[in-house]
Amino acid sequence: MNVKEAIYAWYQKNGRHDLPWRQTNDAYKIYLSEIMLQQTQVKTVLERFYFPFLERFPTLQSVAEAPLDDVLKMWEGLGYYTRARNLHHTAITCKGVLPKRPEELGGLKGIGKSTAHAICAFAYHQALPILDANVKRVLCRYFALSVKDEKVLWEKAWKFLAVKHPYEHNQAMMDIGAFVCTSKNPNCLECPLSFTCKGKNTPENYPLAIKKAKVPTKKRFALVIKKEGKLGLIQRKERLLHGLWGFVQVDEKPKNAHSLGKVTHTYSHFKLELEMIYDESLHVKVDGYFTEEEIESLALSTVDKKIIQTLFSSK
Ligand code: ADE
Repeated sequence: MNVKEAIYAWYQKNGRHDLPWRQTNDAYKIYLSEIMLQQTQVKTVLERFYFPFLERFPTLQSVAEAPLDDVLKMWEGLGYYTRARNLHHTAITCKGVLPKRPEELGGLKGIGKSTAHAICAFAYHQALPILDANVKRVLCRYFALSVKDEKVLWEKAWKFLAVKHPYEHNQAMMDIGAFVCTSKNPNCLECPLSFTCKGKNTPENYPLAIKKAKVPTKKRFALVIKKEGKLGLIQRKERLLHGLWGFVQVDEKPKNAHSLGKVTHTYSHFKLELEMIYDESLHVKVDGYFTEEEIESLALSTVDKKIIQTLFSSK
């Protein structure tokens, strides 16, 4: 048995066949799973987001027809909201029908080359390799590559692809990356690649770890603005959370304001420490005033939800 056959056999026996996006050939459902899984763990996607999203938006056409706010609402809590905005944009651009060619798919907003290949391989069994973070690590180890060079890795991924069963090959590579060829303590004894793996004696060298800089902490202040029992919120314009509703934030603590406590949230590039501030005399322009019930129906970022929870739990 060569290594490609070993991977195929391993997948038949050990693969996660029951994942819902592996039980369908609907390109939209596969596309949605790939986008959600780009920055979120399988468990979170599976338990909290994938099914409710599909319930609300059963087809890409239904995404195209919905206002962006509704799509953001279903994405609430999942983070990296650019994914939701791109999904909405793409649904409209392709009029609810995804193209089948990887070059066309890869030209759509939010769909990179690996995601385009994933959609084509999983929905249509096209012989295209995938190169996500887990697969990169598996290939680095197998070919003893100490640096992750995109060009080299794509060449290796193409050569390594089992063209007879690209679907199983790609799903297997993802599962092996997630459970066997893990970044720490890989289980080489259970690995179908290990017989010919060049990196198995020193897996920690492939790829060599690059020390990550510690993310900085930003301290800011969230203004709790009240009017007639309602809370004043703005709809965010900045790139990171565009379209989401939340509390006005400022860099300087307003004079005479008193603190209502702190909430924190870690984004990919920084940690945000937000002190909630209340000052009756402050007059700040907001986009609307809402009751607790009305806020429930808006899309809020996780940190703004934490503020809401803190405010209403201490009532
Ligand atoms: N992560 C990205 N795509 C995936 C898939 N198809 N199965 C499991 N995890 C994934």
